[in-house]
Amino acid sequence: MTTILVTGGTGTLGRHVTERLRANGHEVRVLSRHAQPYAVDLREGGSGLDAAVTGVDTVVHCATSPRGGDEKPTRNLIAAAQRAGVGHLVYISIVGVDRVPFGYYKSKLAVERLIEDSGTGWTVLRTTQFHDLILRLLQGMAKLPVVLLPARVKDQPIDVTEVAGRLAELAQGAPAGRVDDMGGPEVRTFDSLARAYLKASGRRRAVVKVPLRGAAYDAFRAGGHLAPERAVGKVTFDEFLRTRLGSGTGGR
Ligand SMILES: NC(=O)c1ccc[n+]([C@@H]2O[C@H](COP(=O)([O-])OP(=O)(O)OC[C@H]3O[C@@H](n4cnc5c(N)ncnc54)[C@H](OP(=O)(O)O)[C@@H]3O)[C@@H](O)[C@H]2O)c1
Repeated sequence: MTTILVTGGTGTLGRHVTERLRANGHEVRVLSRHAQPYAVDLREGGSGLDAAVTGVDTVVHCATSPRGGDEKPTRNLIAAAQRAGVGHLVYISIVGVDRVPFGYYKSKLAVERLIEDSGTGWTVLRTTQFHDLILRLLQGMAKLPVVLLPARVKDQPIDVTEVAGRLAELAQGAPAGRVDDMGGPEVRTFDSLARAYLKASGRRRAVVKVPLRGAAYDAFRAGGHLAPERAVGKVTFDEFLRTRLGSGTGGR
């Protein structure tokens, strides 16, 4: 049994990682701004962070702010981990952070570099978008009478439980460096994903594809965030929708 700290262990990914590791008999601490007894804001660090990492063998770093800017929180985490003699930092990143010049991705790439240069044993796993994120985006877009989608952009969403399983496996092993990327089972157009969601949720909306401008959009359109050669996920978006929304899907 090892002691493992999961930062962001209350989040979409982190809570599944935490469950897996606990089921495998490890002592797991969950850190987030609101998770007692390790309620720590990584942006601030401090004695609460030192207490959270003391006696920890491995840190799985899932905490993030959707606004990006995860560099400072990660610097604080690395410094505390070094003081505590943590042996292994495991980080979850995103396929294409080095190819798509999108603000949040630039921050993820910078965090990868911090982890790699930390002098502590490390493992980095990059995956494609989680089904939950695509669902959340589409639910937001469907609040309007017309769903506006970025034209000619595809996605390859993956089930978060499969990512959590792999991350837990990596956390239980030795530092492995950058491991093979993980992609979802299917590459689909945003249009097809949106239609599947509208059908599954019983919403009727016009779908309009909008061409956008800019380097990030060009890189997304070129598929920089996809890993078709690593389509290792099993659960499809339709299967995820059936479980989550409980009705028929399709709409390719
Ligand atoms: N979503 C995707 O499609 C996707 C795909 C590939 C990789 N990833 C990566 O997977 C990781 C987890 O993503 P997610 O979707 O699970 O995120 P999430 O659901 O937004 O969870 C974020 C977690 O971080 C904690 N947190 C936020 N700010 C914090 C701070 N300053 N100090 C301490 N804890 C903080 C949150 O809890 P509190 O609010 O209590 O602080 C929460 O537990 C991220 O690194 C993300 O880039 C995500």
